[in-house]
Amino acid sequence: MTTATTLSFTHRFEPATAPGRAPLLLLHGTGGDENDLLPLGRAVAPGAALLSPRGKVLEHGMPRFFRRLAEGVFDEADVVKQANALADFVSEAREAYGLAAPVAVGFSNGANIAAAVLLLRPEALAGAVLIRAMVPLAKAPKPDLAGKPVLILSGSSDPIIPAENAGRLARQLTEAGAVVAHETLPTGHGLTQADVTLTVRFFANLKA
Ligand code: MLT
Repeated sequence: MTTATTLSFTHRFEPATAPGRAPLLLLHGTGGDENDLLPLGRAVAPGAALLSPRGKVLEHGMPRFFRRLAEGVFDEADVVKQANALADFVSEAREAYGLAAPVAVGFSNGANIAAAVLLLRPEALAGAVLIRAMVPLAKAPKPDLAGKPVLILSGSSDPIIPAENAGRLARQLTEAGAVVAHETLPTGHGLTQADVTLTVRFFANLKA
């Protein structure tokens, strides 16, 4: 299917081809777009419906999901605004395409907006895989994430995300009731085969 501009975010949607799999909400990193994570989605959850929006904020022409003041320093008012806009898009898309609540798979900036949606609009997501995520809001809201599965994948030599920060995010989500697994891989900020393998395992366990 080609890129659609009919709902509130430019996006791509691939319908499910296998029954009983949660839809995936694919959220790209800075400079990516709605095409980037479709191959990852197909690899980690074959047959699942894929919903892949393009971030609306442009940084020197590069799409993102919210504004930042510097690397790792976020415009938190914009984080709140954009997380709400994305959660609203998810409910539009669920209605338009007849979907259950999706599980987010976000990379970098996409993982950070997914974490913000979990914290601010927990009903929008059934769970999340957060690849190279950090705390999106200094003052975390206290949502009810009871039982939602979350996998956080960090890199031990990630130059953007201090280990303490990723650990704090894992604690915030755990305290809100999510079932959090936090793995730190011997790698940097980029996506690796180990991320794919662990995400495949996460979705295989969800299905069981
Ligand atoms: C962010 O801005 O969300 C993080 O710094 C990750 C990135 O996009 O590089």
